[in-house]
Amino acid sequence: MHPDTPHPLTARKSPPLQGIAQVPGDKSISQRALILGALARGETRISGLLESGDVHSTAAALRGFGAELVRQAPGRWLVTGTGVGNWKSPVAPLDFGNSGTGSRLVMGAMATTPVTAVFTGDASLRSRPMARVVEPLLAFGLRYEGQGPKALMPLTLHGSKDAGAQTLAVATASAQVKSALLLAALNAKGTSVISQSSLTRDHTEKMLGAFGARISVRQLDDGEAITLEGPANLAGCAVEVPRDPSSAAFAIVSALIVPGSEITLPGILLNPRRIGLIETLLEMGAEIQISNKRVSGGEEIGDLLVRHSTLNGVTVPAGRAPSLIDEYPVLAVAAAFAHGQTVMLGLEELRVKESDRLNAIIAGLKANGVEASVHGDDLTVHGMDKVPGGGTVTTHMDHRIAMSFLTMGLASQRPVTVDDAGMIATSFPEYQELMRGLGAQFDGAAN
Ligand code: S3P
Repeated sequence: MHPDTPHPLTARKSPPLQGIAQVPGDKSISQRALILGALARGETRISGLLESGDVHSTAAALRGFGAELVRQAPGRWLVTGTGVGNWKSPVAPLDFGNSGTGSRLVMGAMATTPVTAVFTGDASLRSRPMARVVEPLLAFGLRYEGQGPKALMPLTLHGSKDAGAQTLAVATASAQVKSALLLAALNAKGTSVISQSSLTRDHTEKMLGAFGARISVRQLDDGEAITLEGPANLAGCAVEVPRDPSSAAFAIVSALIVPGSEITLPGILLNPRRIGLIETLLEMGAEIQISNKRVSGGEEIGDLLVRHSTLNGVTVPAGRAPSLIDEYPVLAVAAAFAHGQTVMLGLEELRVKESDRLNAIIAGLKANGVEASVHGDDLTVHGMDKVPGGGTVTTHMDHRIAMSFLTMGLASQRPVTVDDAGMIATSFPEYQELMRGLGAQFDGAAN
């Protein structure tokens, strides 16, 4: 398939979904495993790596900095890193495709090493604000040339020599910004302290500890402060990537809304900062049983059993947004099938994702006959007994918008079409095959 040719896909009313959904590895942890492996001295052996477009873009960029990354078998990668501070300047521009996480974390990782690199990406990534990352990195001595006040890509970054440690408060509720600053601090001399008032995902902190960084986290009345000693001596290690709860979300909501469904999802990452969707669905009355909780690769995981359920609307507090951030589109779809209204508060960060997700959600719901509105940064969805469907959804190069509205089509009265399913491969290449295996009905080219 040509990547630039849109591939419409239609989902229609499906029989009960049944079976086992083996969703792929977590995207956030996969990205970090490659980046930390490329920074560390020696070998990092990764298992369960997500092999998606975004992760491949990051792998290619890391090779440009001088790390060796070898795919040994599906999901098994061997990364031989350079050691912190030893990256070289890539000879060609780095194309991060659709990947905000890959590009932003790598910006941080190179900021305190005297190298120059050009960052670019697809049309979606080129429209996303990079100022939120490169502006705080100026404190570490980074210099950049970008497009306009948002510092859009293409962006040329010059890392600094002899950077000193910094004490910085992250203003945005973003794990990417926090992580970029932590990765910059690795090669800054002295004790850096990075604080944030929202509790965003903490994979970078945990994994840095596993790679041997001297790092500690202190809870504050309002958020937390992370202390990191630089320059750090990271040593390669083994990383087991758990299965991605953000990809599992589509199978979970599909099973909840398709009558008669019962599916199991083994080994899903249940990090407390990633389970806002499960918490919310349980409050809505979802039948989701979690069993066999265990720790794997330093992260909590567990098996999920999900049955078709009667859902009720709820109000989702703004404070839950960091742990639910990528799941709002599919939560909005679940809300369309619930009794009563669901109000999701404090969604401003959704405007700067792979698309303006707040607008894309509203447009997609309306195109399918569901009443929804936005007031300020709050989204209200009015649930219906029978969701009409029948619409075509514009995905704006956003994989999660595509998968969310395909989810809707599996249970709506009429089919739902998305204008382009091609972007799904950025995070979940197996989506169609996995969902078809459970019984989902799609019309269109298999990816
Ligand atoms: C991610 C952080 C989140 C999330 C993204 C992955 C990460 O972005 O939306 O999909 O791996 O750190 P923000 O940090 O912009 O909230």
